[in-house]
Amino acid sequence: MKVAIVGATGAVGRDLISLIENRNFPVSELVLFASERSLGSSISFKEKSLPIQILKKNSLEGFDIAFFSAGSKVAKHYAPLAVASGAVVIDNSSAFRLDPVVPLIIPEVNPEALWNHKGIIANPNCATIILLMALAPLHKRKKIKRMVVSTYQAASGAGAKGVEDLLQETHSFFTKETYHRQVVPFPYAFNLFLHNSALKDNTYNEEEWKIICESKKILKDDQIGITATCVRVPVIRAHCESVNVQFHEYFSAKEAYEILSSSPGIKILEDKLENRFPMPIDAIGQSDIFCGRIREDISQPFTLDLWIVGDQILKGASLNAIQIAETMLKIKHPNQPKR
Ligand code: A2P
Repeated sequence: MKVAIVGATGAVGRDLISLIENRNFPVSELVLFASERSLGSSISFKEKSLPIQILKKNSLEGFDIAFFSAGSKVAKHYAPLAVASGAVVIDNSSAFRLDPVVPLIIPEVNPEALWNHKGIIANPNCATIILLMALAPLHKRKKIKRMVVSTYQAASGAGAKGVEDLLQETHSFFTKETYHRQVVPFPYAFNLFLHNSALKDNTYNEEEWKIICESKKILKDDQIGITATCVRVPVIRAHCESVNVQFHEYFSAKEAYEILSSSPGIKILEDKLENRFPMPIDAIGQSDIFCGRIREDISQPFTLDLWIVGDQILKGASLNAIQIAETMLKIKHPNQPKR
């Protein structure tokens, strides 16, 4: 297959390139696109150096799959052009996620929704993927009534420049040199702040709103009550989430442990004697989502607390996108004629 990566120089784009190589994704030709800022640069793939191409109007003609990770504006403009010339687009931005005709996919959770795609498939928000990897298997057993989500999000969620801001600012904290932050709006070294996405009229920020709306779409349940508070913490990579989740009936912590222990892509990681539970350093570079500290909330019936950690660039973005493509290649539409 002829594959394009739009946003190849970004944090997610670079991971996509490694995953395509390491997972032996069936690619006959890989073409990398970025903005004019990357003119003249190249990235190595299978011992070759691939030049970065500048994305232009007709750049995406003749591809089978185009992975997009260059933000909503680029996706809205170029994804329809790629689809019109025959490609399937797997887009990591929020541009199409809530569009009713666009499937929003976590392959372990709702692969069946892929059957109806019309050319564009959306990759959910990273915090949503990490959350639902743990909650969807529980919801499958006993329906969720309400959840309260608090996120602790890493700098790489703000892109490669977000990481640079954190590292440079931490360095200048010690050297006392002046550093002008590029994308992060507030002091980040030894500090944290509420997610800096725009506030909506209802005072949720866009990140929180994505978790709320996308979770309902993926779980196919508009009735679930969801509230969220998203925070950026000075961690380079891997998001953590604290979740208080109420079910319609009693759900023991023991049963939740049993379900999550055998759910694909989830690992229970804890040592209660050592008071040790999943941390970002456990999840960095790992495909699995780590869970622990599942306990019955003593303040409310039918309610569990749990702690979830995942590499938001991998399973929260690039790996999920590749898995969507792999699933798409594997599954056959139920109405598809037998060959
Ligand atoms: P570039 O590096 O040339 O700016 P991140 O989210 O890590 O910041 O990455 C964003 C990615 O999207 C980068 O690869 C960036 O390329 C790419 N990008 C941003 N704007 C455009 C554009 N107009 N056309 C193509 N790629 C773009």
